[in-house]
Amino acid sequence: MKKNGFNPINLPEWKHLAQHCRRIRNVHLRDLFARDSRRAQKFTLSAEGLTLDYSKNRVTSETMRALFALARACGIAKARRAMFSGQAINRTENRPALHIALRHISGGPILANGTDVMPEVKRVLRQMDRFSRAVRENAWRGHTGKTIRNIINIGIGGSDLGPAMAYEALKPYAKRDLNVKFVSNIDAAHLLEAVRGLDAAETLFVVVSKTFTTQETIANALSARAWCLARLKTEKAVKKHFVAVSTSTEKVREFGIDPENMFAFWDWVGGRYSLCSAVGLALMLAIGPENFNRMLAGFHAMDQHFLTAPLNKNMPVIMALLGIWYNNFFNAQTQAVLPYSQYLARFPAYLQQADMESNGKSIARNGKKVRWQTGPIIWGEPGTNGQHAFYQLLHQGTKLVPADFIGFGRPVEELGEHHAMLMANFFAQTEALAFGKTAGELAAEKIAAGLIPHRTFEGNRPTNTILAARLNPAALGKLIALYEHKIFTQGAIWNIYPFDQWGVQLGKELAGKILPELQVARPAKLKHDSSTNALIKRFRAMQKK
Ligand code: F6P
Repeated sequence: MKKNGFNPINLPEWKHLAQHCRRIRNVHLRDLFARDSRRAQKFTLSAEGLTLDYSKNRVTSETMRALFALARACGIAKARRAMFSGQAINRTENRPALHIALRHISGGPILANGTDVMPEVKRVLRQMDRFSRAVRENAWRGHTGKTIRNIINIGIGGSDLGPAMAYEALKPYAKRDLNVKFVSNIDAAHLLEAVRGLDAAETLFVVVSKTFTTQETIANALSARAWCLARLKTEKAVKKHFVAVSTSTEKVREFGIDPENMFAFWDWVGGRYSLCSAVGLALMLAIGPENFNRMLAGFHAMDQHFLTAPLNKNMPVIMALLGIWYNNFFNAQTQAVLPYSQYLARFPAYLQQADMESNGKSIARNGKKVRWQTGPIIWGEPGTNGQHAFYQLLHQGTKLVPADFIGFGRPVEELGEHHAMLMANFFAQTEALAFGKTAGELAAEKIAAGLIPHRTFEGNRPTNTILAARLNPAALGKLIALYEHKIFTQGAIWNIYPFDQWGVQLGKELAGKILPELQVARPAKLKHDSSTNALIKRFRAMQKK
């Protein structure tokens, strides 16, 4: 990896890309396709069962060569080796980022701080396996002997979004008579709605927190505990109705959960990269250990592809470079992720944390403010819903919004013509975005002259198409790992630290100060800005009413 001081925009490769961009920024995809009948073939890559067609991007072979040269100049090959070999690449927290070890199940040792982490990883997986089977096969029962029918995961951020997204994605593989819910928000509505109508004697809470200090999670877990004990009438019930996932045995014990019922993970697993650890316990309970292991194998296959494929045949690297092309050279502000699968409804939300908490940074590794754009705003909704909401802006708005379209050859659940209709829309959208509709074409259709400007589609809107045969545990693992490594590659090129998240601290600290000001009868003189002071007073007055 280049020294901490490296500044990507000073690299000759960056400058070359900037010049090249000026030359080709007005070239239309219509012309690029017309000039080269082999374009789709040239810019399509298949790896590990995923296909990426990136031909509908505003690039030429020269662009791609220049982007690969940038990746080389930024030391991507060395950076990925540093991550995979357990170096402390998360420098501001002085630890490795070794989520790849969580799915390296049949591989050799992986060292973190000189210790092979694999025996521990496998031990916890075995513990999860045993526990999941016991619950699924009714050997683990509630305090009164009743079967567990409800699983409630309590966690937030990485301790919620991963399992919640993957549970939705893999619902067809889940044991349908287990009712699995996810509670994250400190708003009591989340917990109260989740437990509404449930029998505490049939409910298991999985409290997930890397630190076991996160305010929302601890408050929700305490309220869940109170709800449970109010119904089961004895402290002893906690043992059968609460398990914990954490890195801190001490904090779990303090909370009152027996460390015997704790599933460990480690500080070298970042919250937003933790789905393959015990953080995935609720998912394993739902889909069973075999399916969970299939998902891990999918992750691992994409990890290996990322580690070993040359940069110009490397799917995460190509996606990262295309993202940088629009973000840094076309000044695109956002990146849409549009899964054409209802099961992937939570995938964009999951990627928001994965990407924006990783690359939403403005300080380079040398401690100086960056003079280049870093992570984009990630957003999206499943197709076709998005088409009837925000696609108008994608097609005819003034902003450039690069978009990833994710689709599947076969549906998980067949129903008449639905899948063909879904995918017809999928292909139609990327075609329309790329090629648009010209004034000439509209005139030939005898559209009234006054309407032609309104009905013209400029086109030249870039998209990636990602296809897999079917959404299953392995495909989901590959898809997530694809984005994880894309994010990593971009962070390395922007020369920022993608594995810390200091930006979430200030709000937490201030909330800690404000809470008593909302609660005590006579708060000390408020010392915030005039707006915050007035709002706090208004809130207090509302409470009196
Ligand atoms: O506030 C952000 C964050 O630290 C995330 O990075 C993390 O995934 C989430 O909070 C939850 O943290 P924990 O698992 O420690 O409760």
